[in-house]
Amino acid sequence: MNKPDGSFLPYGQQWIDDDDIDSVIQVLKSDFLTGGPAVENFEQAFAQSTGAKHAVACANGTAALHLSALALDLGPGDQVIVPSITFLSTANAARFVGADVIFADVDPYTGLMGPDELEDALARADKTKVKAVYPVHLSGQCADFEAIAKIALEHDLKIVEDACHALGGTYQHNGKTSCVGDSQYADMVVFSLHPVKIIAMGEGGVITTNNDTLADRLRRLRNQGMTRNAAEFQNKDMAFNGTNEANPWYYEMPELGFNYRASDIHCALGHSQLKKLPDFARQRKNLADHYDQRIAKLAPTVRPVDRMPHCHPAWHLYVVLIDFEATNLSRAQVMKSLRDQGVGSQVHYIPVHKQPYYQKLYGSTPLTGADSYYKHCLSLPLFVRMTEKDIDRIVDTLASVLSLT
Ligand SMILES: Cc1ncc(COP(=O)(O)O)c(C=O)c1O
Repeated sequence: MNKPDGSFLPYGQQWIDDDDIDSVIQVLKSDFLTGGPAVENFEQAFAQSTGAKHAVACANGTAALHLSALALDLGPGDQVIVPSITFLSTANAARFVGADVIFADVDPYTGLMGPDELEDALARADKTKVKAVYPVHLSGQCADFEAIAKIALEHDLKIVEDACHALGGTYQHNGKTSCVGDSQYADMVVFSLHPVKIIAMGEGGVITTNNDTLADRLRRLRNQGMTRNAAEFQNKDMAFNGTNEANPWYYEMPELGFNYRASDIHCALGHSQLKKLPDFARQRKNLADHYDQRIAKLAPTVRPVDRMPHCHPAWHLYVVLIDFEATNLSRAQVMKSLRDQGVGSQVHYIPVHKQPYYQKLYGSTPLTGADSYYKHCLSLPLFVRMTEKDIDRIVDTLASVLSLT
């Protein structure tokens, strides 16, 4: 329905079908556009799909990251470790609560923070202040959960995985296949359901956790910090007014929260899309495999990112590393030529530690892996409705632009 007409392939795009549209229409015809049953239904399905005990839906991935930092009580004086190759919001979430960011380097061939990069960041951190680490599953590949969790445990760090790219991915652990988001190695796992991601809510985010207290707290924080749970009421006189039952209108705000709720409209779309997640993940993997075969012919100038051995990614992005210097072309020239021939591309990401805001705060941190990854990376189109023929066209165009034919 919304597949490009063949003249232009964007780097990413949602796929919405009639089932999705029907699900949203049902909510539009129902009594609840927000605060209704579609939210909980979606949350239950999401928890089941990832294998986590709880899923908490919210307004977007950035809100989810912010909520995670609030729920961990991070604040001024604390330090949080974040890899530099990520979207701005992973680091910004720490700043929203007044904590400081220690930027970790990444592997130049995967873009992922591994145990060595985490240790290096810890060596630069203040041991008494560092409280949490936010590993990022870049492009859909899993960071090395197990090794990161081991180090985090030694340093008493909380872990929040930024899995905004990784819904539908799986990983091997002790001979068993587990889903990204099962929160086995993390306090919380955060997802974005922005339309370019694996499934779409329009704007939407989800946090999974196996911790009951965190789940309750996240739900409260996404809704102004308020509670209607009588067991939590502190102003007993106002709440109970001399009776055993709380007043029917009564609510309380024990802490400051936000309006980060997800509406029933968004959750209905997310729920409908979630049913297609296994198909979407399979299709993305098939497309990535086809890319791998075709891209291999452009070596050594172009190579796919290195693969994590324990991970079966859902492939949010298909990223290649290009030796632009060897081609005598700048990345801007390559992107423009690709665009002129109907192929979109993008750069994921500009190292966050290089952003003026962060440079002003922390000066310049030498992170050679992040610099190298940034210098070479280019995301090629990858979305569910693409075909192998589209990939052939993209790779042929890239080869011709780089004069590799
Ligand atoms: C790695 C990563 N983290 C967080 C986010 C924020 O998600 P959202 O756009 O839903 O706020 C994104 C979105 O691009 C992302 O790619």
